[in-house]
Amino acid sequence: MAGANCATPLSSNLIDMSKHLAATPASTLDPDIIAGIAGDVPGLVGDLRSDHAGETGAVAIYLGILAVSRDPKVRQFAQEHLASEREHLARMGELLPPGQRSVLLPLWRVAGWLTGFLPALVGPHAVYATIDAVETFVDHHYEEQVRKLPAHGPGAALKALLLACQADEVNHRDEARAARTGAGKLIRAWQWLVGTGSALAVKAARRV
Ligand SMILES: [Fe+2]
Ligand SMILES: [Fe+2]
Repeated sequence: MAGANCATPLSSNLIDMSKHLAATPASTLDPDIIAGIAGDVPGLVGDLRSDHAGETGAVAIYLGILAVSRDPKVRQFAQEHLASEREHLARMGELLPPGQRSVLLPLWRVAGWLTGFLPALVGPHAVYATIDAVETFVDHHYEEQVRKLPAHGPGAALKALLLACQADEVNHRDEARAARTGAGKLIRAWQWLVGTGSALAVKAARRV
């Protein structure tokens, strides 16, 4: 799976936006298989709960951006990413029955929506800086989990799924990074807040 090429113009990159997971065959994973793997992978259900919560928040981020931005490039960027995040969320939903999902999903939706809406009020640069920060965090988040999963056996299918999601998130990050210009103190402080908030949200979603 090739990563996004930062030198490629934004519009060309957008065409390839969700190719990683979208190009992955339909998942054969289900909650029973996850339960079977969970005995060998400490914290697996909590990790997947945080993934499902995170993808819920990611969908909300792009809806928040689209609620306010009238910039055509930002809207195309957000619509393409939204399709990708909805696909991620659907795949995560297949792994976790409703009873195992985060009880704080309404909070993740509101927090995600504001994380998209607020920078979109400021302008395209703030939107791209926010997505850069979010996806940098999510890349590391998936990397942590991928490392815990085996390359063979039933856990390998889950590893492949998470790797495909991670590759999409790296694409999203690179798209945002290529589109943004510079960063003032305020933007850097906002990025820190976004990264710290994401880390706290993952911590909470792993538990409840
Ligand atoms: Fe995602
Ligand atoms: Fe993403």
